[in-house]
Amino acid sequence: MTIITEAQKNQLLEKAQQACQQAYAPYSQFYVGAALLTQQGRIVTGCNVENISYGLTICAERNAIASAVATEGGAKMKIRAIAIANNRQVPCSPCGACRQVIAEFAQENTIVIFRGETNLETATITELLPVGFSF
Ligand code: THU
Repeated sequence: MTIITEAQKNQLLEKAQQACQQAYAPYSQFYVGAALLTQQGRIVTGCNVENISYGLTICAERNAIASAVATEGGAKMKIRAIAIANNRQVPCSPCGACRQVIAEFAQENTIVIFRGETNLETATITELLPVGFSF
């Protein structure tokens, strides 16, 4: 597993919590924030943005990733770690779609940090998406 320091982990979680406060979630009231650490050492955040047509909703993780691609190296952007937080402090591992998108910009050992049933959990993207789509 990629080594990130306890300080980096806390910083990512802090940024994810902050991003969560920006969420546009008038339909679910479930505010999600994500903060990712790029291979270059930059932190980029995102929040969920819902839509009245529901299906057009964008998750926090994918928003952070799209933003990181646009601002932190385009196709060269790589995720070292990503933290996810929500306003209800309930378990919140990334949804399947987000796992596939994280995998697109991950190394095998990219770390995902999220709230589990009892405490914070840390897993590699490979553990969360062992047999993702590829061709
Ligand atoms: N959501 C995320 O932002 N990330 C996930 O991984 C799963 C769900 C958002 C989408 C929607 O706005 C709200 O949480 C409730 O599903």
